[in-house]
This record gives sequence, C-alpha cells and structure tokens, in this order.
Amino acid sequence: MTRAVARSHPNIALVKYWGKQDEQLILPAAGSLSLTIDAFPTTTEVTLDSGATEDTFSLNGIPGAVGQTARVSALLDIVREAAGVSTFAHVDSVSEIPTDAGLASSAAGFSALAAAAAAAYGLDLDPRALSRLARRGSGSASRSVIPGLAVWHAGNDEESFAEPVDGPDVRMVIVTLSTGAKPVSSREAMRICMLTSPYYSAWVDSTKWTLEGALEACKDNDFTRLGRITELHANRMHALIQSADPPIRYLTPQSVAVFDAVAQLRQEGRNCYATADAGPNVVVLTTPDDADRVARHLAGFGQTRVVGAGLGAAVIERGVAS
Ligand code: PMV
Repeated sequence: MTRAVARSHPNIALVKYWGKQDEQLILPAAGSLSLTIDAFPTTTEVTLDSGATEDTFSLNGIPGAVGQTARVSALLDIVREAAGVSTFAHVDSVSEIPTDAGLASSAAGFSALAAAAAAAYGLDLDPRALSRLARRGSGSASRSVIPGLAVWHAGNDEESFAEPVDGPDVRMVIVTLSTGAKPVSSREAMRICMLTSPYYSAWVDSTKWTLEGALEACKDNDFTRLGRITELHANRMHALIQSADPPIRYLTPQSVAVFDAVAQLRQEGRNCYATADAGPNVVVLTTPDDADRVARHLAGFGQTRVVGAGLGAAVIERGVAS
C-alpha cells in the first residue's frame, strides 16, 4: 500500500478572501494576500488501500464527521481522476490548531491533504498545480501551500493559484479569545453575504484595488502601509458580514476590545495592526522589534503567541505501508 505524509501550516490573510465567483471550482471573486505562519501545523498521512470500499478520515485520532469525510473524499476524487487510479484511501490528520476557531484550520488541513494525496497517488505537481489542487478543498488552502507571504490570484481554474511575494519581515501575535466552533461556517457565510448584502459588489471591487495597494506595499518593503491596509480590510470584511440577512457576527466585544488596545499601542508608538478571520480571535500584524512587547501588552485578553513566516506544504515521508 502506497503512503505519504505531508505537513502544512495555517495562513492568516492580510487582504481577505470572502466570496466566490464559482462555488464548485472554488474560484474567488477577488485575489487575496496572506502570511503562512510557523506554528500550529497539520500533519496528514494518506494510505492507499486496495481492499477498502470507501475512504476513511480521522482527525486527531477521532473518526471525521460525515460532512468532513465527504469533503476529504471529494478532494481525493480529483486526485484519483488526475492519476487514473481508483483505489480508496485512509486519511489520518493531526492538527495542532483548535478546529473551527477561525484560525484557518481548513487551510492547513486541505493544503497538507493535497500534498500528501498527490504524493501517495503518484502525481508530481509543481507548487502552482499543488496550490490549485488545495484550493479545491478550501479556498484559503491554496495559500498555505506557499511559504511566508503569498498572493492568491483570482481568475479561471488555470489562473487561480497562490505564489510567493517578497515583502517586509513581519511577525504576528495571535490572541486566542475562544477555541469554540464558529456559529456559521465561512463557506455558508460567504454565500449569505453574496446573496443578501447590498455592500457585496462594493466589497469585491474594493478588494481588487486594496490588493494592488498591499502588493505595492510589499514591493516597497513598507510595513506601515501594509499594516494599515490589513486592519482596514479586516474591518471592511466584518462590516460586510454583519450586513448580511440574517446578520452574522464573528467578532465579540472582547475582539473589539483587542482592536482598541492595538490602536492604543499605535498611539504609544508601536507598529501594530489588528485583523480577524471568521471567528473572534484577533491576530496582530507587527514587526520583529515590537512583537514581544505587543504580546505582553495583550496577554490580559487571552493566550498570546508570537509567530513568524512559516514553511509551505511539504511531503515529509513517503513509502509503502506494511
Ligand atoms: O478557505 P475558507 O473557506 O475557510 O475561507 C477563509 C476565509 C477567511 O479566513 C475569513 C479569509 C481568508 O482570506 O483566509
């Protein structure tokens, strides 16, 4: 039985992905920019089993829920079709990130799965092709394939992949306020925003030029401009989400308090900007010089962890299972 093990890290978006132009192919309505971090990896083993009659999936040793297993199986179907192999597989993942806490667990998960599955089924994919494959599992996973700063392009199936971007040396302070499951999945919430928010088209248009600005800031090594864009774009995404009908709100009063504390730290001369994905936890973009001080200052709100740029998806073992 052929097997492969791959590891991948979560990413945190500076310019957010929120909305699809194609639900089936997971093509984003606009491009996005993120940092793949050096903490909370997911390690995934894919083992082909010629005797199996279906795929199986476990997360941290616990069999996956039906919906989770179906999403894993759907990605394996794409790999099987490309490889011309029909064998089912066992997928075992170990994630060091609290699932569904709005810390992009699906990004690391589907990026690791794409890398392990491609290797186990014998597909030799370059980073672009691997990013396109990971995208089919979860949009943001396309960016976790890439180390450090990554831009994920909008476009058609061929064009929509992530690739590395040079930029300032940054740190992030992750402020964990809650590890509970989010009230509405990002997939569902994006759909509701698209269908019901009067602001949706303005969001998509503005994200396009926001991304251009962020890429210019990266090119100019301009941390302050990149930080300002990051916080602005997070606020806009959460404003859009709250404008859906029925309204969805991921930020809690605690999250807002952290945004305020970050603004206060800026007044005191620290280089720091807040963002949050589809959950209450806040991530603070900062510089190597200010990271520890920012983390110490925010420690009263929740657990804090300083992270930097991390590795992209990588196969760490391959072989024949006994
Ligand atoms: O990839 P998904 O479907 O989990 O969506 C991720 C959406 C955000 O994390 C909120 C934003 C982003 O760009 O990662």
